[in-house]
Amino acid sequence: MKKGLIITIDGPSGAGKSTIAKRIAERLNYRYIDTGAMYRGVAYAFKHYGLSDKTENGLEDFLKGLPIEFHFENNAVVIFNGCDITEDIRTPEISMLASKLSQNRTVREFLTQKQREEGASGGVVLEGRDTGSVVFPNADIKFFLDAHDEERVKRRFLELKTKGMDLNMEQLKAEMKKRDKDDSEREIAPLKIPDGAIYIDTTGLDIDTVTEKLLSYIRERL
Ligand code: DC
Repeated sequence: MKKGLIITIDGPSGAGKSTIAKRIAERLNYRYIDTGAMYRGVAYAFKHYGLSDKTENGLEDFLKGLPIEFHFENNAVVIFNGCDITEDIRTPEISMLASKLSQNRTVREFLTQKQREEGASGGVVLEGRDTGSVVFPNADIKFFLDAHDEERVKRRFLELKTKGMDLNMEQLKAEMKKRDKDDSEREIAPLKIPDGAIYIDTTGLDIDTVTEKLLSYIRERL
C-alpha cells in the first residue's frame, strides 16, 4: 500500500525547488528525494576517478559497482567511499559536470531506476528536471517552479556565498545559462513542463508564500 502521495517538483536551477521541496516534505512528514544530488554524486565519482564524461565502455558495471550511497531524509546525504561528500557536490564545477553527465543515456537509466525505487511506496517529494515527465509521469501531483533569470542567479549566488564559496556573479550567470540551455535541449528527458503540471512563477515571492501555494494544491488531493 502507498504511504502517501508522490509529489514532483521540476524546474530550472535557482527556481527554489530544493528549498520548497524540503519545506513541503517537512510539513507532510514525507521523504525529500533530491534527484540532482544523485547526478552530482555520480559526477563527483567521475572526477575522482579521472573519467571523461564521454566514457561508455563498461559504464553500466562501473555505475553498479560505485561505492556511493544516497540517504534521503529531510536532506540528501551523499556518501562516497565512506566519506560524506554532501557539501563537496555543490561546487559550480560539479554542477557543470553533472549537467554534462545527465545527457548520458546509461547514467540516466541507472539513476531513473534508483529514483523510482526510492519513490515507489509514496510519501515522497521528488525534485529535479524530469521527475514529473519521466521518473513518475503518473505522480499524484506535479509542479513546475520557475523564476526570472536575474532572480534565479541572485538566489544561487547568495546560496553559494553563504556556504563560503568564492564566486564571480557574471561567471555564475553564464554557467547557469549554459546549464539551463543544455538541460532543456538535451535529447533524453529534457527539462520541460510535464503534462498536467501546475506552473508556478516564484519571482518576487518569499519561501513561505510559495510553500503555502503548493500546499493548498496538495491538500485538495490528500
Ligand atoms: O538540481 P541540481 O542543480 O542539483 O542538478 C544538477 C544537474 O543534474 C542538472 O544541471 C541536470 C541534472 N539533473 C537531471 O538531469 N535530472 C534531474 N532529475 C536532476 C538533475
